[in-house]
Amino acid sequence: MRTVNNTILITGGSAGIGYELAKLFGANNKVIITGRNGARLAGAVARLAELGIRVTAIAGDVANGADVDELVGRLVREHGDLNVVINNAGAAAGVYSLSDEGVNAFDRAQQEMLTNYLAVIRLNEKLLPLLKKQEEAAIVNVSSIVSIVPGSRLSTYGASKAALHSYTLSLRHALAGTAVKVFELRPPLVATEFSSEIGGLERGIPASVVAEDLLTAFENDNYDVLVGNTADIYNLYLQSPEQAFLALNAR
Ligand SMILES: NC(=O)c1ccc[n+]([C@@H]2O[C@H](COP(=O)([O-])OP(=O)(O)OC[C@H]3O[C@@H](n4cnc5c(N)ncnc54)[C@H](OP(=O)(O)O)[C@@H]3O)[C@@H](O)[C@H]2O)c1
Repeated sequence: MRTVNNTILITGGSAGIGYELAKLFGANNKVIITGRNGARLAGAVARLAELGIRVTAIAGDVANGADVDELVGRLVREHGDLNVVINNAGAAAGVYSLSDEGVNAFDRAQQEMLTNYLAVIRLNEKLLPLLKKQEEAAIVNVSSIVSIVPGSRLSTYGASKAALHSYTLSLRHALAGTAVKVFELRPPLVATEFSSEIGGLERGIPASVVAEDLLTAFENDNYDVLVGNTADIYNLYLQSPEQAFLALNAR
């Protein structure tokens, strides 16, 4: 996959991993970022501009059908050369235990499934006709280390990422022979706001490392991008799923 002269949509590009992706890819590609909070999005655009990187921002919630229709309409009208979609926007509905009462696990899981899994299916389906028209195109689904083994403190979030992983494998298979390459980016714990509740700011890797790994994966057409210690957990999982579960949930 080429790494320059693409037109790239990054959902959730106003913070964390998405922001670092915009910064890295924005130097040599046309980049469009999204996010729900318009002020935060404008702040990201301004910070990138200070670094000499111009990106386009489109506010919206990936979990909201009307927002997605508006986004897709604008992309088709104004960015008909769109050839890369990075499904990065994602969220966990808090840290909680499945053994606790009154945590409302159903509502949390529903929100996580909508944002992290169903929204990706909807956006990809709506953008595939555009992507298929391009000479070379890519879909990048940002899943997680917990797509391999569950992280028990974010149990229903992990299940949404496992679903995303399964879907991504089938999508790659279905699109073989088309112009659209399907990547899965699987970060470990990353130091972002998202992971602050589970110690990510202290123990997570920098979000810039995740962005750099995706760039390298594009260069090498490496479709399953196991960032940092995700590769160790994956290898351990192949030997012993039980040991991998214990290792990931040791702390
Ligand atoms: N951090 C980690 O340890 C880690 C590890 C593995 C995988 N991941 C995955 O990596 C991705 C990015 O996470 P991050 O750590 O960078 O999170 P983050 O720092 O919280 O940033 C999330 C970004 O997504 C946007 N966003 C969230 N929900 C959205 C929605 N419904 N619609 C549109 N935009 C939305 C946020 O902006 P608004 O809030 O303004 O919408 C923000 O720009 C997620 O898919 C996450 O599951 C993270």
